[in-house]
Amino acid sequence: MRGGAQSHLMRCDDGHYYVVKFQNNPQHRRILVNELLGTKLAARLGLPTTPVEIVYVSEDLIRLTPDLCVEMPRTRIPCQAGMQFGSRYPGDPRRLTLHDFLPDKQLMQVENLNDFAGMLAFDKWTCNTNGRQTLFYREPQDGQGPQEERYRTLMIDQGFCFNAGEWNFPDAPLRGLYARNRVYEGVRGRESFGPWLERIEKHMTERVLDERIREIPPEWYGDDLDALLRLAEQLHRRRTKVPELLLAAKNTTRQPFPNWT
Ligand SMILES: Nc1ncnc2c1ncn2[C@@H]1O[C@H](COP(=O)(O)OP(=O)(O)OP(=O)(O)O)[C@@H](O)[C@H]1O
Ligand SMILES: [Mg+2]
Repeated sequence: MRGGAQSHLMRCDDGHYYVVKFQNNPQHRRILVNELLGTKLAARLGLPTTPVEIVYVSEDLIRLTPDLCVEMPRTRIPCQAGMQFGSRYPGDPRRLTLHDFLPDKQLMQVENLNDFAGMLAFDKWTCNTNGRQTLFYREPQDGQGPQEERYRTLMIDQGFCFNAGEWNFPDAPLRGLYARNRVYEGVRGRESFGPWLERIEKHMTERVLDERIREIPPEWYGDDLDALLRLAEQLHRRRTKVPELLLAAKNTTRQPFPNWT
């Protein structure tokens, strides 16, 4: 697949296809933690994500598949065997066309466009230091006759939450925003984020965070459980900071929320 992590599309033994990021990806080993933890927390908040799994890739498969390698500036090294991160392709790749971007006109036909506001609250909370990335796909049409095309969006790539491999939170007003303001046209004020803010504050308990942490393969974080626990503690503490982070985004000259009055 395209992108800095050099992920691979793989069919897994549950019959689904996954975009797999390997432990020895060129970005950072910890982005696998960020993807699994971040995506599961976003899903728990009710945001539209793809199902994510720990994918086991055997030594044999890598040895027999020359394409399973990581391109470095001067060399190619084989992908590492073992537990990897997988983000499920939301259908059959031979039939379902996905788009990384949509033109503004089609953006207005995205049924769950309001989820971009919720995802921004999440990205502020987790200090995603990449712009927000999503996938779009056409909703299958049931009726006959000419119908407006409908799209849905899915949030992908939580690899740079918690500032990628750094696991700190260098908050900045424009961080985490989607490239097009159009997706935030439904935002009328702080109350537009209300349900998300409430879920972050009330549902992201220490227990929920702890449960998520225990299921992460220790090799993804170099067995440094202390670092991971510190990350969870900071996340817990930052829950109440999200409104002020959103306000700082609102007050930038970019004016991402044209209808916030
Ligand atoms: N669950 C998924 N289903 C289908 N396609 C996906 C999925 N996850 C990622 N992709 C595709 O794979 C590409 C790379 O994914 P992703 O952005 O997560 O990796 P990345 O290496 O961090 O990329 P970048 O460095 O460009 O941000 C995406 O542009 C997207 O098209
Ligand atoms: Mg990406």
